[in-house]
Amino acid sequence: MLAAKKDRGEAPGGGDTPAGPRHVAIIMDGNGRWAERKGVSRLEGHRAGVEAARRAVRAARDCGVTIVTLYSFSTENWSRPDWEVRHLLGLLRRFFREDLMELAGEGVRVRILGDHESLPPDLKKLVEEAEDSTAGNTAFTLQIAFNYGGRDEIVRAAASLARKAAAGGDAKVTEEALAAELDTAGVPDPDLVIRTSGEQRISNFLLWQAAYSEFIFLDLLWPDFGKRELEEAIAEFHRRERRYGGRKAKAASAP
Ligand code: IPE
Ligand code: IPE
Ligand code: MG
Repeated sequence: MLAAKKDRGEAPGGGDTPAGPRHVAIIMDGNGRWAERKGVSRLEGHRAGVEAARRAVRAARDCGVTIVTLYSFSTENWSRPDWEVRHLLGLLRRFFREDLMELAGEGVRVRILGDHESLPPDLKKLVEEAEDSTAGNTAFTLQIAFNYGGRDEIVRAAASLARKAAAGGDAKVTEEALAAELDTAGVPDPDLVIRTSGEQRISNFLLWQAAYSEFIFLDLLWPDFGKRELEEAIAEFHRRERRYGGRKAKAASAP
């Protein structure tokens, strides 16, 4: 029981002050509105968004966070105009070209969450190579959710369990068995989910994993996010009390 609680990021010893956060997940929203306000194209907004993502990862590492998950393209984002989708796919390619080597050299494990099968073949290959070449790194984990939808992930996990059952494997359907089939298998759930842009919704992000995450919604647009904003979010996280369905830690013992 205690071990299970620790896996969810609770303070060691079951206290009311959360440790960490060790895993911060971010819904990086607002690139388009940022561009609109500046009178530049949305593409400029997405480019500035990539810079903000680089800053956020550096800042997270400085703050002692060991896992960062960035939501960069949802299964619903394919419905955007072709030119914008092409640009967003291009930015992921550029990430592999310009950032991967450096991150790998710093001991960062890179994982791309989402459905790899429906990515263009060259991108699928880059994703697989990036994951394989950094699989042994342990200093920090960077997960990029790309062509990712929480519902899609759960459906793929359930289908995988069903295939194993049909093949005569261990057919037990448990929370642990399902979690082990998710794209995030083996990675602790996010302690903190941050969304920028002022929208207060989850937009199909980490539906399973965020069951007990703390949420912080910020009014600023993603390209304006930096170290100060992360530090403030972490300070707010420390003011929260995580209960996991239990009682308030300092409540009187009376019934
Ligand atoms: C987030 O910014 C990036 C993606 C969803 C790819 P948006 O492009 O959604 O920006 P807004 O919400 O239109 O401002
Ligand atoms: C969520 O942002 C997806 C990403 C940040 C990649 P969206 O802009 O796609 O979400 P909605 O449409 O506002 O819910
Ligand atoms: Mg948006």
